[in-house]
Amino acid sequence: MQVIDIHNHFFPRSWPDLAARYGSPNWPWIKHTEPGKADIMVGDRFFRHIYAACWDPEVRLQEMDRDGVDLQIVSATPVLFAYERPVEHAADCAQLFNDAALELCSRGKGRLKSFCQVPLQDVDAACKELSRCIRSGHLGVQIGNHVGLKNLDDAGIATFLHHCADEGAAVLVHPWDMFGSERMPKYMMPWTVGMPAETQLSVVALILSGAFDRLPSTLRICFAHGGGSFAFLLGRLENAWHHHPVARGDCQYPPKHYLNRFYTDSAVFDERTLQFLVGTMGADRVMLGSDYPFPLGEERVGSLIRQSNLPQQTKAKLLSANATRFLGLESNSRAADNKSDAAGSSPIAPEPGQLTYSSYLKVPELLQLQQPQSSPPHHDELLFILVHQSYELWFKELLHDLDAVVANLRRAGAAPQSRDEVYEAARLLRRCTEITRVMVEQFTILETMLPTHFLAFRGLLEPASGFQSEQFREIEFLCGLKDEKMLRYHRPTPEAYASLKRRLEEPSLHDVFFGALQAMGKLAPAREGATDKEQFEARARAVHALYRDERHHRDWIDVCERLTEFDELVVSWRLRHIQLVERIIGIRMGTGGSAGASYLKLTLDKKFFPELWEARTMLTE
Ligand code: HEM
Repeated sequence: MQVIDIHNHFFPRSWPDLAARYGSPNWPWIKHTEPGKADIMVGDRFFRHIYAACWDPEVRLQEMDRDGVDLQIVSATPVLFAYERPVEHAADCAQLFNDAALELCSRGKGRLKSFCQVPLQDVDAACKELSRCIRSGHLGVQIGNHVGLKNLDDAGIATFLHHCADEGAAVLVHPWDMFGSERMPKYMMPWTVGMPAETQLSVVALILSGAFDRLPSTLRICFAHGGGSFAFLLGRLENAWHHHPVARGDCQYPPKHYLNRFYTDSAVFDERTLQFLVGTMGADRVMLGSDYPFPLGEERVGSLIRQSNLPQQTKAKLLSANATRFLGLESNSRAADNKSDAAGSSPIAPEPGQLTYSSYLKVPELLQLQQPQSSPPHHDELLFILVHQSYELWFKELLHDLDAVVANLRRAGAAPQSRDEVYEAARLLRRCTEITRVMVEQFTILETMLPTHFLAFRGLLEPASGFQSEQFREIEFLCGLKDEKMLRYHRPTPEAYASLKRRLEEPSLHDVFFGALQAMGKLAPAREGATDKEQFEARARAVHALYRDERHHRDWIDVCERLTEFDELVVSWRLRHIQLVERIIGIRMGTGGSAGASYLKLTLDKKFFPELWEARTMLTE
């Protein structure tokens, strides 16, 4: 059994002078006082005594051996969050300490892993840093339990949590910046009284707001310090929920229902409290967390669990199994198990008739679908077919997601107070942009085909042409770029013709987006007799107004940003396609009868959401 401590902290031995770097006062810095000892200072103010375990992996590993801990997941500390600072400073600061964490872990003999920190005051920047960190080896993220006045159910923070689930990142919520501090100036009361209450507030906010109903169940989130006062006061919350409608909030079920949606650590320092916590949360939901090596941490990490009267099986869960699941390390250990199974030559053989990889994915059918025209088949024709087919598959997924975006925005318009649909639209749009990014890249594979090799079978393809890609045209129509003339290329295939005609008549993503702004009162219905230009300007002004009121429209701005990015990436796709065409056939005519590259260049000015671009010009005026 591998004993894992999911809540402990580090400070690097040194770091740049942040006050000078950002030109603003009161950043944390480290003052080494004697060998192996240091003080953390915030500006001129003393903050905390620390010792070498914070920065020296050798010391940490010795103390881990002493305490019987195999793996620590280190986090920086809330004093470095910088959520109240300009986002670019917070993002830079996060990068600095995230890279320092990896550097420390690289010297930890495989026994140190890390959680990163992110500039949580800005969703995009936070998501970006999280993705970077997960790619570079962090297992998850430590976040503060609030950003100024925003609790964890805030729209932007919920989007970030969604992103963590998508990225498979574990989330450790740490209380910080405690409320009521002015009434607790002494005796470390912000830590002993404020922190547990802050954490309780965060859990309750996520439950009552209905955020847990909307967040994916794959989100792995843990609250530090035994979840603060939450477990002890759950009965009070439950009673209020059942008897006072005003206390119910927006969640679908009573609060107890959500206990399987989060974890807590075990940092409660008292056996009866630990027993109570495990009794309330369940043995699968509490994990060893020590707050090591800080003054309020567990002195001998793991001793509370080990010395308790909990059953052996529960102790094993708290010390190891629950953290393995929380951190997403299960698949690794399972892979290791499978490896040893395979080595012991006992792989699982599926029974006849059971679902298999091939039968589920229809692999044999899929592999039958490439039928070259050349005979004998030219070597590169297979690639030509496969690349086009893979684009068509991505187009299919894009249509699937864009349809869902339209449905969500339509619902958002029908219920302007509800924000869930807006987040969901933004999340799906992010997928669309990622797919399009891959599609832009994919052309390079086809560029490995020599022009001469393409010419060897090009003649056989006429009059087939990309013009006839029904799904490509559907995407254009669905987004709002409708051109009835294009229908003529689809006359030979009645089904394609019919579905394109339907798209032509249906409200587009563009229509639904601005319809929702109208329903929210951000865009007045078009005045009778208003010219196209006037209507266009009114729509651009509505977008402009959203950006000007960022505090209230973060979620909608997120949608705007994603739509803009999608627009931008589709233009990149068009451009890369033209470069490919020029590289392979120069300025020859296309098999579809167009002037080729020179025709395609005319499509570069096409935009799905020109108002979003116009709004940018207005913003800079
Ligand atoms: C050897 C590689 C390729 C060449 C030489 C080529 C050439 C062309 C040409 C000349 C056109 C203009 C219409 C015409 O007259 O035929 C066109 C349009 C188009 N092609 Fe390609 N293409 C290539 C690869 C691809 C790939 C991999 C895709 C992926 C789906 C694709 C999708 C399209 C689409 C959707 C159009 C219509 C564009 C529009 O109307 O805006 N092409 N292609």
